[in-house]
Amino acid sequence: MNIQHLENKQMENGIVLACSGASDLGELADKVARKIRNTYPINMKCLAMVAAQDKGLLETLQSSETLVIDGCPVDCGKKIMEEAWLSNYRYVRLTDMGYVKGQTIVTEELINEIANKIINSDGANRIIHNKPVEKECCTEENCDMFDFMSDYVGLKILHPGGIEATNNVLDMLKIEKNMKVLDIACGKGRTSVHIAKKYGCQVIGIDILENSIEEAKIYAKKHGVDHLVTFQAANAENLPFADNEFDITIAQAMLILVDNKEKVIREASRVLKPGGKSGWIELSWKKPAKEDFLLNASKEICAKCISNVVTFNDWEEMFKQVFANVKVNSFDMDFRGFSEMIKEEGILIGLKVMFRYMTKPTIRKRMMKLNNFFKTYPEYIGYGIYITEN
Ligand SMILES: C[S@@+](CC[C@H](N)C(=O)[O-])C[C@H]1O[C@@H](n2cnc3c(N)ncnc32)[C@H](O)[C@@H]1O
Repeated sequence: MNIQHLENKQMENGIVLACSGASDLGELADKVARKIRNTYPINMKCLAMVAAQDKGLLETLQSSETLVIDGCPVDCGKKIMEEAWLSNYRYVRLTDMGYVKGQTIVTEELINEIANKIINSDGANRIIHNKPVEKECCTEENCDMFDFMSDYVGLKILHPGGIEATNNVLDMLKIEKNMKVLDIACGKGRTSVHIAKKYGCQVIGIDILENSIEEAKIYAKKHGVDHLVTFQAANAENLPFADNEFDITIAQAMLILVDNKEKVIREASRVLKPGGKSGWIELSWKKPAKEDFLLNASKEICAKCISNVVTFNDWEEMFKQVFANVKVNSFDMDFRGFSEMIKEEGILIGLKVMFRYMTKPTIRKRMMKLNNFFKTYPEYIGYGIYITEN
């Protein structure tokens, strides 16, 4: 259902919320929301009241058709909704519609144009993203354990072995200050920043998700390494870099998420100098996974990507198709307790995760399921650190 349907049904309880940030796009989002409110039977509420967790408003939003308009990929509106555990809403981001932050002049004509576009869009044209109703953290449509850990649990480091595994890879890669490093699928930028701080070298992080890149930029600035680290949104299957540009690439927990693993491996090799090295961390089976194990896996932990995991040997063969040298280091899966998690993620995020765990039964249930699953099959589950060389 989209806004058009809201209008058709003359629903009284439709609500629009908008970012009203200081930039041109924030102003635009706010004014478009007002235009929609003034033209259609829909109420406008204050996003800041959602951020302040106003009880009455949260209850109203739980039973209302809601439209959230953000200006830019900082996604304040979306984050505020997620923080309040509201997931059943339509979402529009003005940058997705082609408007550029810092370069958009807010005119009455433009406000009308965007309000009309939103009102007349249907679910198919992606101006309004129809999010599935999520009663549970894990539904058919939301079936990726990494999304769950990132979007619902709030973790920022999302690969097996955590920081310890990253430090192992970095030691094996022998990074030096004068080197240029590419962090492929950098997520929220934790590893890129860690590398820049540890070695003082130049790092570029890329990820397919624009909002992760925006968060990574803020994180690098906060840690005083934004002169060394840059981030950009890009697809690992088609890296926007010249041949032989990097000394090192690192990719953690990403091959199991891409459609074409071989293409990503070839791209990593292409952008590396002759003799350049790549470090990969990937979930790996200790023995070939039987079909019933795989079925059970995707059912129990609700992770489509699990069917992309292969054995240590199969990963090795895959890397050997592209790289001259491949070294495999296999590890048992280890588990971060809360204290370990706080050490890695930092006190603020750690406490936030603990709070969610304690107060949100759906989160707790799925986290426990995940932990139990990984503990139940030690004969299958491990992770590999693969060091490959051009
Ligand atoms: C499990 S997370 C790991 C993130 C980070 N490397 C870490 O260790 O915390 C996987 C990441 O891969 C990114 N990703 C998935 N497919 C991608 C692609 N084709 N190109 C670039 N990034 C991709 C996701 O957006 C996500 O940030």
